[in-house]
Amino acid sequence: MSTRRKFLKVLGGGVIVAAAGGGAFLATRRPTKALAPWEQAAGYDDPVKRALAHALLAPNPHNRQPWLVDLGVENQVTVLRDETRELPMTDPFNRQIFIGMGCFLENMVIAASQTGHAVELDILPEGENGPVAVARFSRGASEDPLARQILHRHSAKEDYTEAPVEPEKAEALSAYVRVITRPDEVQALRELTWRALEVELMTERTLQESIDLSRIGKREINANPDGIEMREPHLDALYSLGLLTREMMADTSGAGMRGVLNRLKAACFATPAHTVLVTDGNTRRDQIEAGRVWMRYSLAVTGLGLGTQPMSQALQEFPEMSEHYAQAHATLAKPGQTVQMLARLGYGSAAIPTPRWPLETRIMNG
Ligand SMILES: Cc1cc2nc3c(=O)[nH]c(=O)nc-3n(C[C@H](O)[C@H](O)[C@H](O)COP(=O)(O)O)c2cc1C
Repeated sequence: MSTRRKFLKVLGGGVIVAAAGGGAFLATRRPTKALAPWEQAAGYDDPVKRALAHALLAPNPHNRQPWLVDLGVENQVTVLRDETRELPMTDPFNRQIFIGMGCFLENMVIAASQTGHAVELDILPEGENGPVAVARFSRGASEDPLARQILHRHSAKEDYTEAPVEPEKAEALSAYVRVITRPDEVQALRELTWRALEVELMTERTLQESIDLSRIGKREINANPDGIEMREPHLDALYSLGLLTREMMADTSGAGMRGVLNRLKAACFATPAHTVLVTDGNTRRDQIEAGRVWMRYSLAVTGLGLGTQPMSQALQEFPEMSEHYAQAHATLAKPGQTVQMLARLGYGSAAIPTPRWPLETRIMNG
């Protein structure tokens, strides 16, 4: 019997997931194929491929995974941007995409240290329109302690507990970002991140961008292991029954959207601290370097047993966001500076891995 028919039968009985069958259904709904790159990363013998298989586990906006690598020259990686993987509505100038590229580069460098390889990075060797970087591997590095966190780092998108971020941990993270724990400042940022999120979700074309990038249920996630994964078994079930559709998701006045907003609002407010990364300039190089710092910060957060989630909406450069963008910059930066990243920080339930395209699909001339 097809899954759909089984469900219809269960629905006919008035229960969506019967207790006895539910566990088995949940277990079979894990998008195992899409998550395989997390398990495979450490299995590569070739040190360059091993480093790249770790690099692609980097955080990146909307999980677009905007990277490609050319392995045409031995011991060298040319890192390119896949220009089909952009976010024209929410990231019209590709600022976030370049931050994601910086995260990829840094994760590669950190992972390479585990096999004793140093990586010399030539960033934007042909200017802004050429490769993002050329990386040359050579022997002679010792292991970066952050490397051990790569396979354990995940964005923590749930509510955080009320436990404060201890001053010594905030101090440790201050090596990378500004950590905000003062209650009045935290409260103002909870409100700002929430208001900005509401604008992104209630603006038709930015919402549609997210809907188009949504992968609903195991089958879609495995087929396109990127974007915004909706893996919750009940959503998978409703979707396969036709009781959840993309049209419903686009209805900003519907009950579904109210539920989503309430859940996201709760998370914005269940936040004991925030972190901010500001740069003086805003060139492509500045954005890439910001990404490299953000990668180190993210791994350090994992190492401290904390969780973090970027909250980028107030930093987005589309017209409807301009008020929140201005407020973020007025409160977090000096005139002329750019806030590259703003995030929640705290203790939450264990975050889970998100899908990735396998390394082999990202390689050219390899
Ligand atoms: C530049 C940048 C911006 C991001 N903005 C957001 C955001 O606004 N909201 C969010 O939930 N996650 C955001 N993220 C996190 C990504 O959604 C996340 O890294 C991606 O889905 C992969 O998941 P993972 O970090 O758990 O591996 C951002 C990440 C980067 C690098």
